[in-house]
Amino acid sequence: MDTQGKPKKNNFEIQKETETFSIKKAWGGVFNQATDPRMERFTESISFDQRLYYHDILGSQAHAKMLETVGILTPEERDAIISGLDAILQDIESGKFEYKIELEDIHMHIERALIERIGDTGRKLHTGRSRNDQVSTDLRLWMRDAADHVDGLLKNLQRAFIGRCDEDMDCILPGYTHTQRAQPVLAPHYWMAYCEKYDRDRQRIHDCRKRINILSLGAAALAGTSIPINRHMTAELLSFEDVGKNSLDISSDRDYAVEFVFVLTLIAEHLSSWAEEWILWSTEEFHFIQLPQKFCTGSSIMPQKVNPDTLELIRGKTARVVGDLQTLLVLLKGLPLAYNRDLQEDKPPIFDAYDTVCASLELAADIVAGTKLDREAISAKLDRGHLDATTFMEYLILRGIPQRTAHELVGKLVRKALNQKCRLADLSLSDFQEADASLDETVYSVLGVQQAILAFKSYGSTSQEQVKTQLNFWIKYLE
Ligand code: ARG
Repeated sequence: MDTQGKPKKNNFEIQKETETFSIKKAWGGVFNQATDPRMERFTESISFDQRLYYHDILGSQAHAKMLETVGILTPEERDAIISGLDAILQDIESGKFEYKIELEDIHMHIERALIERIGDTGRKLHTGRSRNDQVSTDLRLWMRDAADHVDGLLKNLQRAFIGRCDEDMDCILPGYTHTQRAQPVLAPHYWMAYCEKYDRDRQRIHDCRKRINILSLGAAALAGTSIPINRHMTAELLSFEDVGKNSLDISSDRDYAVEFVFVLTLIAEHLSSWAEEWILWSTEEFHFIQLPQKFCTGSSIMPQKVNPDTLELIRGKTARVVGDLQTLLVLLKGLPLAYNRDLQEDKPPIFDAYDTVCASLELAADIVAGTKLDREAISAKLDRGHLDATTFMEYLILRGIPQRTAHELVGKLVRKALNQKCRLADLSLSDFQEADASLDETVYSVLGVQQAILAFKSYGSTSQEQVKTQLNFWIKYLE
């Protein structure tokens, strides 16, 4: 380590400066000067795009099959390429594969390994394609799987919320606006509010998957190719729904990636707001919930502390994901058609956003399932804040009092209760009749949070009936 904490040497052998290439470059024909080793370190992407190895091999195998069908490869050559790539896949997965920065990226590594393994036949694989359409294809294949994985994690999290609903059905929580107590809400109403948000995230994932699921391969460098390839066949082999129509567009396009990271960012934002809420709820001040201790940490100086670090970091790491989206947007903003090397910088933010959101989603599901409601502490606090005032106002409206008049009347009664340091339900009938002579004993039928909950009627409200209807929907939907 140097004084700035950076490792002195990276994982790769630092190349000696020589006039000839230490490793023969696939593009080296026209060059008469070796590349500067600092340039090699600066421009390599193997340190991060090695993650695309599986999808690179998948794409190459489909490409080889297509090349055989159009008569560019013999069946023997095709088979040699496919089994050579299978062997390379095994080497990579068993940790035997060696990465070198001189070979730049995952595409060059796999192609070089193939040539070493099967000889000259391997030199035919790159026919009718370029790394520009290859990297885009790899990324689309990777992202298609990534999108499905995120969808599964979102579904898991929804299940965790729904899994609590039956048990928590009779628990009333204060609902807030402006972080001020507002109206009573059933706990499952809260849980299903999150399910709605994550469901819109899932819809966004499904929608952006359509634009991910398009074949890039065959755009070649930028203009297509004079080799008589069959792109529709390649698309079918790789289960792409469509074939990119314009080679210039395809080799430059990353908007599918921006969309994916945008969806990840919204998921992170949803997670972050929830984490913030549950951090507050776990405080001594609220005491609504007890987080599972296995997702908390203690303090090195204050022995009594149990801190909600996982939730804090779910909230904190959202900043990174927003940064990843920002990085992609700025990366693309000034790029002329078609491929530019800048595009290589898309992968670190994409991978980072994905890894961060996946880890957060996994932990969130376990925290949701393992958290305990502190029902005693909650119900002890429900009497504060006049959570029944709005339903009481609505009761007056239903008795024929205009809304503005009813609002003012209840406001005055709340003031009276505040002065007497009591609940609305504790005011005497004469207190109510002083405010409006027409009031009678039935006022007490809507006062108190229990009664207020029973009074709700509208579609999507927190009434028991509405909440149970919602719950039935979710149970079926998530089966
Ligand atoms: N590593 C490159 C990337 O990720 C692959 C494409 C390189 N193309 C090129 N013409 N140098 O974008």
